[in-house]
Amino acid sequence: MEFISIIMSNLIYGNLLMANKFTSDADIVLECNDTVNFSKKLPNDSVQLIITSPPYNIGKSYETRVSIIDYLDTQSELINELVRVLSPKGSLCWQVGNYIEKSEVFPLDIYFYPIFKDAGLKLRNRIVWHFGHGLHASKRFSGRYETLLWFTKTDDYIFNLDDVRIPSKYPNKRHFKGNKKGELSGNPLGKNPSDFWDQLHEDFDSGLWNIPNVKSNHVEKTDHPCQFPVELVERCVLALSNKDDIVFDPYAGVASSLVAAVKHGRKAYGVDRDKNYVSIARERLQHLLEGTLETRPIGKPVYKPTESSSLAQIPFEWLQLEGSVYK
Ligand SMILES: C[S@@+](CC[C@H](N)C(=O)[O-])C[C@H]1O[C@@H](n2cnc3c(N)ncnc32)[C@H](O)[C@@H]1O
Repeated sequence: MEFISIIMSNLIYGNLLMANKFTSDADIVLECNDTVNFSKKLPNDSVQLIITSPPYNIGKSYETRVSIIDYLDTQSELINELVRVLSPKGSLCWQVGNYIEKSEVFPLDIYFYPIFKDAGLKLRNRIVWHFGHGLHASKRFSGRYETLLWFTKTDDYIFNLDDVRIPSKYPNKRHFKGNKKGELSGNPLGKNPSDFWDQLHEDFDSGLWNIPNVKSNHVEKTDHPCQFPVELVERCVLALSNKDDIVFDPYAGVASSLVAAVKHGRKAYGVDRDKNYVSIARERLQHLLEGTLETRPIGKPVYKPTESSSLAQIPFEWLQLEGSVYK
């Protein structure tokens, strides 16, 4: 009974409307449906950021394994809808790992790339998301990364680099010759986080998979087997969308992407066909809106320099500076 009311009702928090079916006046839409059916309802050019991790066709509890050709055909149908709804300044982030058949590895990003390219999207980064733990392979090297393909619809896209800068390893490095000799060479707002996302994952990874009682050891863990760390999505939300823009996750699971979007003042749409995940997702969003959802705070990763390195000290000029990541 409680489950039904969570799934079926629209909710209002302050001036935010959370709807259980698509309606263009909602701030948050979380629908239990097939993703293609849902995506067909969205207007052309309306979504600023699409971010998701699709099923990998590896036989998880929420998917039926089919041939890789059938899998990619189904994905293409969705991708065409997603490109239609993506705004001209918009971005699409597709996070995938490997599909494995008879011990042979098929890196899914390689298979997805031509589908997106044929649909007219342009690749901006292939981000490597590295993690330190996972299954130990015995007949190949253990897999320790997945990838996130970031595409844009046009060349005129939103990229808020300053909102996602991180501290550099050697903030006190100075030009050693030329007319800038002696001046600090880095950026006081921090450095570009690059296309290798490592530390972002570290806490989540060790909390989630390295400690036996995972549920009580990571603040974000739910019953979903493959959820995004909210922090991973937050970096994309901040860099690739602005306040009030729409962020859409077409395989929303337990709404990690929606949580990241709402945390930063964006509108959030999500769809998942599994009622249990939608129910957990809705609860997470309710807790977020009530201010009681725990997420790992978005980290400016803390690099611990060796005491002896003067280059690693934070320059006094930057300690005072408004907007500096070192303050
Ligand atoms: C890899 S999980 C995504 C997890 C999500 N990133 C999170 O943080 O919770 C993929 C999700 O897609 C959902 N799914 C699979 N096929 C679907 C379909 N055709 N329509 C809607 N949802 C689907 C599954 O139920 C699953 O929750």
